[in-house]
Amino acid sequence: LVPVGIIGTGKYVPDRILTNQDLEQMVDTNDEWIVTRTGMRERRLASPEQASSDLAYEAAVKAVQAAGISAEQLDLIVVATVTPDMSFPSTACLLQAKLGASKAAAFDLSAACSGFIYGLANASNFIATGVYKYALVIGAECLSKITDYTDRNTCILFGDGAGAVVLGQVPEGRGFKSFELGADGSGGNLLKVSAGGSRRPASAQTLDNKEHFIYMAGSEVFKFAVRIMGNAAEAALSKAGMTKTDIDLLVPHQANIRIIQAALNRLDLSEEKCMINLHKYGNVSAASIPIALAEAVEEGRVQESDRLVLVGFGGGLTWGASVIVW
Ligand code: ACO
Repeated sequence: LVPVGIIGTGKYVPDRILTNQDLEQMVDTNDEWIVTRTGMRERRLASPEQASSDLAYEAAVKAVQAAGISAEQLDLIVVATVTPDMSFPSTACLLQAKLGASKAAAFDLSAACSGFIYGLANASNFIATGVYKYALVIGAECLSKITDYTDRNTCILFGDGAGAVVLGQVPEGRGFKSFELGADGSGGNLLKVSAGGSRRPASAQTLDNKEHFIYMAGSEVFKFAVRIMGNAAEAALSKAGMTKTDIDLLVPHQANIRIIQAALNRLDLSEEKCMINLHKYGNVSAASIPIALAEAVEEGRVQESDRLVLVGFGGGLTWGASVIVW
């Protein structure tokens, strides 16, 4: 097998900022509650004209440039998203056209907030087996478009943005060392957008019932998240022949500071060894991990040979973790 790793990263967040103070004007909440319960202070919101493929494009251009290749060299584009531009064509196909990546196969992947890790696992195998040379994996979300800004249980959490990586061959000893993916469909009802699919097609009733917005059973998802983040990270480490003392940087899904702190406790890690940016961007679902990774790279927090653990969880329910030697 060819050793595969991340050879370029990029991120994009829209300019518009939604602060806790803005939210105080919209629902019965306050800055202190939001900060202590979630760690969040601001999120970015797409403009009415922007859709996920537009955010994905901006992040992708940076990642392709950082990888030192051109879009025409891409063999595969995988977009992980719960907010595609439309049901079909896929956001990946829309992006392929925008990028001029005429050679690339393209598809979307649905695994909610775990989608980026699922996408890495998927795309890296095409390269490891010699089928493809370069793959673009993206998490891109416009969660603001499916958020009910009258529901204080959810509207404080979510933001918009995109993170992208290019995968390619890396020197022996570096790159992806393991993946741990999982799902528990019996928890599907805890986190969902009920309508707009074949079960509940869009109708006046689904609109009235607000079934096109995110529904979340917050405390159940919280308990699941606290358990699964540690479990998934430890399983990925064990598959890589490593232990928690080997971790140089943890890049977790940015859902809630208390969920991240529980994972840090479980892994005996200090906050210095963890990338945290949820105070600036909130939870951006599939885009959270690649945005955090790209930001860690920008900030010089990732050096050659560092051992990274990416770990996330989300609707499905799903979870995923990966160990990478940078
Ligand atoms: N402002 C003020 N009060 C609030 C707010 C708010 N924004 N939201 C809820 N409350 C109230 C509740 O109504 C409740 O009041 P009550 O006791 O009178 O009923 C009280 O605060 C406590 O509510 P809890 O839900 O118990 O608060 P909790 O500490 O669990 O925090 C939270 C809620 C932040 C949502 C937490 O449960 C959480 O982070 N859950 C996981 C979320 C998550 O990770 N989701 C992943 C989604 S990713 C994806 O796939 C899109």
